Amino acid sequence: MANDSLLDILLQRPDEFISGEEISRRLEISRTAVWKQVNKLRNAGYEFEAVPHKGYRMIKKPDLLDTVTLMNNLNTSIMGSRIKVMKSTTSTQDQARKMAEDGAAEGTLVIAEEQTGGKGRIGRKWFSPYGKGIWMSLILRPQQPLQFTPQLTLLTGVAVCRAIRKITHLDVGIKWPNDLLLNDRKVCGILLESAAEDEIVRYCIAGIGISANLDREDFPEDLQNIATSLKVQSGVAVDRTVLIASIMEELESLYELYRLKGFQPIASLWEASSVTLHHQVVVNTLQGRLEGIARGLDPSGALLVETSSGEIVPVISGDVNRINL
Ligand code: BTN
Repeated sequence: MANDSLLDILLQRPDEFISGEEISRRLEISRTAVWKQVNKLRNAGYEFEAVPHKGYRMIKKPDLLDTVTLMNNLNTSIMGSRIKVMKSTTSTQDQARKMAEDGAAEGTLVIAEEQTGGKGRIGRKWFSPYGKGIWMSLILRPQQPLQFTPQLTLLTGVAVCRAIRKITHLDVGIKWPNDLLLNDRKVCGILLESAAEDEIVRYCIAGIGISANLDREDFPEDLQNIATSLKVQSGVAVDRTVLIASIMEELESLYELYRLKGFQPIASLWEASSVTLHHQVVVNTLQGRLEGIARGLDPSGALLVETSSGEIVPVISGDVNRINL
């Protein structure tokens, strides 16, 4: 019991008064120390009703993520079974990788209010300001060859897309491989990193970055015309806890579908939400530039692009942009 914090105790029974005596007994500290801790929380933005002989009841908490509230909202058995919430870290990918190397179970989730070295695909930086987004990394341990991991990237994109639609009713679409767009601007990016041995996956880290509650002026100038947030698009702040819980639910059910039925049903869902397919695109890869029509996905998850000569070229990684003819 002494491992609980005052915040844990108050969050576990959000609507009840909890007496100073109970808190002091459970935390094994004096009543004066309880009062000092309550004041510390007040300084951090929490508000309490304090009634003599009844105790303390939380009436307002700052809009920050915490493990107890997240756990209370979760309806999953694997995804999010362990959650670590950090105030600040370089990158949740690095934290999750350390935990995976130390044996953390599949479904372990690391979330940060801020990343000081957030990573995007292809060595890019990911803008991750404090308290405004969902910056999180999930440990997966699929028992499969490394060559299939691009399928998991697409699966993650579909899961996040479905959760955003469900919670915000915004008509988000997927740009290959898994940028989520609203009105042609990026609102979410996904970075899947894997560790393997003898070509068999040891673990994957699915990194999800959602610009949830940023205002337009929060974005640096170079991002203002290409990025957006759920709040900018819908006009209201999203409850990040509710959205994270929904993403975990969607991921759990799609992951189970993938385990039972393979990639085909996931590919169909991806195609149904894609804003890339059937359009003329230009693809920039490390190998060069390619133009053509995005025709579909191959069984590994690569994008099939038909060039003007009729050749079908599979694209495994790169940047794809639509050309408006
Ligand atoms: C991209 O679109 O380039 C991928 C962006 C992925 C960002 C997320 S935020 C949580 C996790 N930690 C990171 O450093 N990156 C991913």
